[in-house]
Amino acid sequence: MINELKNLKINEIIKLPQPKTKGELSVEEAIFTRRSVRSFEDKPLTLEQISQLLWSAQGITYARGGYRAAPSAGATYPLDVYLVSADGFFHYLPEEHNLEKISSENRLIALSEAALDQEWVRNVVVNLVITAIFERTTTRYGRRGIGYVYIEVGHTAENVHLQAISLGLVSLPVGAFDDDEVAKVLALPSRVKPIYIIPIGYSRKE
Ligand SMILES: Cc1cc2nc3c(=O)[nH]c(=O)nc-3n(C[C@H](O)[C@H](O)[C@H](O)COP(=O)(O)O)c2cc1C
Repeated sequence: MINELKNLKINEIIKLPQPKTKGELSVEEAIFTRRSVRSFEDKPLTLEQISQLLWSAQGITYARGGYRAAPSAGATYPLDVYLVSADGFFHYLPEEHNLEKISSENRLIALSEAALDQEWVRNVVVNLVITAIFERTTTRYGRRGIGYVYIEVGHTAENVHLQAISLGLVSLPVGAFDDDEVAKVLALPSRVKPIYIIPIGYSRKE
């Protein structure tokens, strides 16, 4: 449970703490250390950690052009990030580095069922779900834009995996899920397509 998120009302927006641009770990150490982990401690994340993870995915890193933490074909920015936790689910708003509460319902079990019943999707404190509105990119690039969107999801997800390591956390890439079921769980509008789920938490020491 993350108190700041639990206490939000539906459609209420929380300003996230300012993300850091200096950390303790080198990029090389983060790349070397990263592993897919499927067993997480039941230990809450702080709002600072959540802020940093969302920033690493799609945060604004150059305000003048609205450029973001992950590169984007023609700066068309097709991706959105949702956070799913026991406190409900939330939409990340990069422009102001805010988080909007969409629902107070705990959808972790529903999300894991949509992910072919993968237990680590429910036995984790948070999942980031990366979604795409393909038209933002295909309007400019036509069919080639479809591939660009998938490339961008890879950039974004790797940022998150490395950021997690740098925060002392672990993560897992989850691509095995039923797209329509995940869209239903998060009540996504029809043009918003889920592409990637990333459970993130503290590694459970066996
Ligand atoms: C696109 C993609 C989808 C994946 N989907 C899943 C998944 O649904 N469930 C899972 O347990 N692992 C999934 N993985 C994790 C891989 O099994 C893992 O990356 C691989 O075994 C290599 O281990 P490493 O990540 O520790 O290097 C996925 C990885 C990628 C890149």
